[in-house]
Amino acid sequence: LAGCLGDDDDVIVPGTASGFPPFEFREDGELMGFDIDLLEAVVAETEYELGEWEDFDFDGLIPALTGDRIDVIAAAMTISPDRQETIAFTDPYWESDQAVLVREDDGFQPASWTDFEGRPVGAQSGTTGAEQVQTNLIDTGVIDEDDYSSYDNYVFAVEDLENGNIDGVVIDLPVAETFAAQRDVAIAFVEETGEEYGFGLRQDESELQTALNDGLAAVRDGDEYAEITDRWFGQ
Ligand code: ARG
Repeated sequence: LAGCLGDDDDVIVPGTASGFPPFEFREDGELMGFDIDLLEAVVAETEYELGEWEDFDFDGLIPALTGDRIDVIAAAMTISPDRQETIAFTDPYWESDQAVLVREDDGFQPASWTDFEGRPVGAQSGTTGAEQVQTNLIDTGVIDEDDYSSYDNYVFAVEDLENGNIDGVVIDLPVAETFAAQRDVAIAFVEETGEEYGFGLRQDESELQTALNDGLAAVRDGDEYAEITDRWFGQ
């Protein structure tokens, strides 16, 4: 376990879940995005060194962290009380809401959750988007449990939306905007959840937590933060 904390070199192994542009995605096989650049800049401010990136399905990240396969999660992960029962987070580094994607130029243009009556919907497994499907569509009886498709990766969900297998995808707003710009999908409406992303850590790593919070503050105070933000969110 080269990446285990306590090693002399203090290498920390980062884990992500690609397929979530512009935060983490692959282009010609290469992993890139806002989270990748931000964590690299933050760790450069500390005495730790960043190891090789590991790529998991989103719902595999917390088990990988608690199982010591990785030391930090950088995956646009929303800080939530539920997750805080198992892991710790750094200070927040981004804010987000949830959006509902539909096909572009399609007759179906829902304005609210109730418009989904009986229609198939998808989200990535283990996400807050999947929670929104549960609370707004399944628990309320707007759709049956069978009408919900859970995906390992949002890219597959968006592809299924494009080819008509499902009629909506519930996903973080900045990622919805990116897919809407790149593919034949559009944002139908937004649910204001006011989520905040943090880097995830094991609960017993308070030293690393302090170091990353200090590093995050330092990056934010410098020019690099604006550069990174511009690179992934600029026009
Ligand atoms: N922010 C949402 C959550 O924490 C979605 C994150 C999905 N991230 C990813 N890299 N696929 O549940």
